[in-house]
Order: sequence, then C-alpha cells, then structure tokens
Amino acid sequence: MQKLPITDNESILFTKIVRKINFFASMNMGLLEKILGHIAYYSFDKGEKICRQGDPGDSFYVVAEGKLGVSVKSGFFSFSRKVAELGPGSCFGEMALLSRAPRTATVACEEPAKLFVLLADHFDAAMAQNPAFAEEIRKLAADRKFDLDHK
Ligand code: CMP
Repeated sequence: MQKLPITDNESILFTKIVRKINFFASMNMGLLEKILGHIAYYSFDKGEKICRQGDPGDSFYVVAEGKLGVSVKSGFFSFSRKVAELGPGSCFGEMALLSRAPRTATVACEEPAKLFVLLADHFDAAMAQNPAFAEEIRKLAADRKFDLDHK
C-alpha cells in the first residue's frame, strides 16, 4: 500500500468517477468539494487485502483503477467464497460504517489497484449533510446484505 499525492488531476478523476455513481450524483458541488478536502489516494499491489472480514471498519473506499474480489467465510472452518467483483467506479466499506459492526467480507486486489479513501468521520459527515446520499448508501448496503444472506 502506498499513499499517493492528490493533485488537481486526482481531484478531477475523483469528481468524474463519483459523478457516475448514482448516489454521489445527488451531491452538490459544495459537498463534493468538502469531501475532496478529506479524501486520500492509495495504490495497492495485486494480492493485497484492503479490508478483512471481522475487522472493525474505519474507512469507505471508491475504486479508481483495478479489480477487487469480495469474499466471505461463513463457518470457522469453511473456505472463503467469492461473492462479487469490484472495478473502477464501484465503492465499498459502507456496511461496517453504517451498522458499526465488523466488516462483512474481505476485499482483496486481484490486480494492482488505486483507491480513494474516506475516513469514517468524514463519511458520517457526508451522510449527515446529504439525506439523498445517505438513503442511496443505505439501499446499496441493504442490497449487498441481501446478497450475502442469499448467495
Ligand atoms: P464492509 O462490511 O464495511 O466491508 C466489506 C465490504 O464488502 C462491505 O462493506 C461492502 O461494501 C462489500 N460487499 C459486501 N458484500 C458485497 C456484495 N455482495 N457485493 C458487493 N460488495 C459487497
């Protein structure tokens, strides 16, 4: 994992990416600029784990580049099974932040990846300041929970 600088180019990239994510689309430029002031940008190698099932959650992630696998283990001795793939323009890490519960899945890089990272406090602030965004994030988390429970 390596922290990357955020120059104007990365700010533009972040704005472009999140504009395509439907729940960020509801955000006005002012709020998006506030978020931009708090995001960090990291690169990860193939095979690196971004978050581990069962760990506490402290961040929300938006994928800029790469391919990530989402996998879960259900029993103590069970093998992990892959439930989803995430690529540029997807986001993850919202479930633990919303429920204040441990991470529901392990997310690992299947290719080198670059991610924008927003710490929990700033994620909470974005939710509090934009009810439409909060609603869409809750919907996404509910859909994913349904997926996890039924896959
Ligand atoms: P969280 O539980 O915080 O950490 C693991 C993340 O994996 C989770 O939030 C979701 O963002 C993501 N995730 C869990 N289940 C799925 C799924 N079925 N499809 C896509 N992403 C998922």
